[in-house]
Amino acid sequence: MSAIDSRKVVAAVAGPMAGYRAAMKGDLEDWIPLEHAAQMLLDGTVFDEADFPADFRPIIGMMRLILEKTASGGWNWSDPDVQRAFAEAASGTVYRLYAEVLVAMVVEILKAAPLLTVVEVGSGSGFVTGRLCRALRDNDLGHVRLIATDMMPAIERLGHELRSQYPELFIEHCCWNIQHEAPPELRTSLLESVLVFERFSLPYAGYCSIVNLASIADALLLVDDLSLTGQKASFDHIYSRIGTQFLVLEEAYRHLSNYFSSIHTCDAEVVQAIHSPVSTFTLAVK
Ligand SMILES: C[S@@+](CC[C@H](N)C(=O)[O-])C[C@H]1O[C@@H](n2cnc3c(N)ncnc32)[C@H](O)[C@@H]1O
Repeated sequence: MSAIDSRKVVAAVAGPMAGYRAAMKGDLEDWIPLEHAAQMLLDGTVFDEADFPADFRPIIGMMRLILEKTASGGWNWSDPDVQRAFAEAASGTVYRLYAEVLVAMVVEILKAAPLLTVVEVGSGSGFVTGRLCRALRDNDLGHVRLIATDMMPAIERLGHELRSQYPELFIEHCCWNIQHEAPPELRTSLLESVLVFERFSLPYAGYCSIVNLASIADALLLVDDLSLTGQKASFDHIYSRIGTQFLVLEEAYRHLSNYFSSIHTCDAEVVQAIHSPVSTFTLAVK
């Protein structure tokens, strides 16, 4: 029996989701052009990215690069071209919006429920983590421990950087490949109750890692493109070339329901409004 009230946690994300809905305007009102661009890239059709909405261009550039690089050899995350394209996409309107909405959701959940630990999975370069630290400080949530994790050893550097930038916060880091159980040093740092969240890491790790997330989480927030149709879209074919698995919402629910009593598709209304074949924000509570 969890100490947190799932209804309060679900209600807490309504505000950030309303903000997300309001932000989905202009170019972001219709995502079908992005799928068209992905298909043209797969077909080898020559086109000018400038003919597509500005907000989608960094994502189109990234997909183009994935196809180019994987056609001429292996994919290397340390390749400067790759780092440049991903940094551009990550700081573009779309990924920035996801990061802002995610951080707002975490903050509202922390305000609504007695959670004492937040574990981020797959923190990567810390694009979300840094924003979360700022939000924890600005919202007087310094009593909550933040544990940033990733399978890559570079997580140690991120931990050091964030601790020196935010000395008023309790920040730890831990190397964790979520395909395996949480390491003992992570488990011993947890104060109950625990919120676990991740963005765009589960597609690399797969459904099999949900059991490991669930073993430490009272609440779990997943920010991944989960297919609503079960049919691969063109961009799924492109991303699969760099090792991401195609994840389907229904299958994710099946795994989550083994451990969580309440599962909520937070962005159901937005998805319908923007003709998206994927849902991006899933919240599960024990
Ligand atoms: C696309 S990046 C996302 C980084 C960050 N979450 C963000 O949104 O900016 C994916 C991250 O997931 C991490 N990752 C991939 N597979 C993982 C696994 N099995 N366990 C833990 N982290 C993993 C990678 O090291 C990388 O940092």
